[in-house]
Amino acid sequence: MMDTMHLAYTSWPQVEQYLRRCQGIIIPTGSTEQHGPIGPIGTDALVAQAIAEGAAEQGHWLLAPTLNLGPAQFNLSFPGTIGLRASTLMAVVQDVLNCLATQGFKRFYFLNGHGANIAAVNAACQDFYAQWSMGQRTGEVPRCRLRSWWDYPGPDRLRKQWYGDWEGMHATPSELAIGMALLGDRFPSEPAALAQVQAPPQALPVGYAKQHAGDNHLDARSHRAQFPDGRVGSHSALATAAHGRALLEAAVADAHQDMALFFEAP
Ligand code: NI
Repeated sequence: MMDTMHLAYTSWPQVEQYLRRCQGIIIPTGSTEQHGPIGPIGTDALVAQAIAEGAAEQGHWLLAPTLNLGPAQFNLSFPGTIGLRASTLMAVVQDVLNCLATQGFKRFYFLNGHGANIAAVNAACQDFYAQWSMGQRTGEVPRCRLRSWWDYPGPDRLRKQWYGDWEGMHATPSELAIGMALLGDRFPSEPAALAQVQAPPQALPVGYAKQHAGDNHLDARSHRAQFPDGRVGSHSALATAAHGRALLEAAVADAHQDMALFFEAP
């Protein structure tokens, strides 16, 4: 989207000018990890960035580079996965917040696409606030907000309506659908992999989703043993590019609305 204000394409005088009218910035957060037999490794980052780009364009807000590595140790037995320790992501997020806050940014909106980021980013924000609470910094306290795109009412309604329990937890039809809409012909389409996902995955054990919410999974070897093809209760083959376009549109609309409230709150 050409009209989006990517920080990477912006000069420092333009940022200085932007700060005079808005002190908010959007930071997409994703992951680089396996997404089942047909899902691209970069799904979480690609989806979060696309939704953030759409909302940033509508609101004329500045868009920071996507943080495309997150905690993903549980997926390391699948090749291609690159995970950060949760403590590493916390350190990165704190550095990002401190850098931008020093320059005058006051509202930080994390548009999230990866469950395991939630705990680490929220904990980093707590440590960021602690600098004021503990008297190390003074002055106006900035605010942070994290929203995962699937929790917005629009996309949440669609994914429940279309997929029900087959949405599952990972390599979900909703995230792969958005990936299809974004990547088109570049979306993985090996016949053997497509054939593999035509069959539904094993259904999740009762209580599993609640117990492991936020990707609170075990180690990589036991994770692959339990979910051999990488799908965690998700019937990836239900995804279509048309679904993806509708999910993306709904998510962008909700993200834009939520960001407007957050950035313009006194
Ligand atoms: Ni994902």
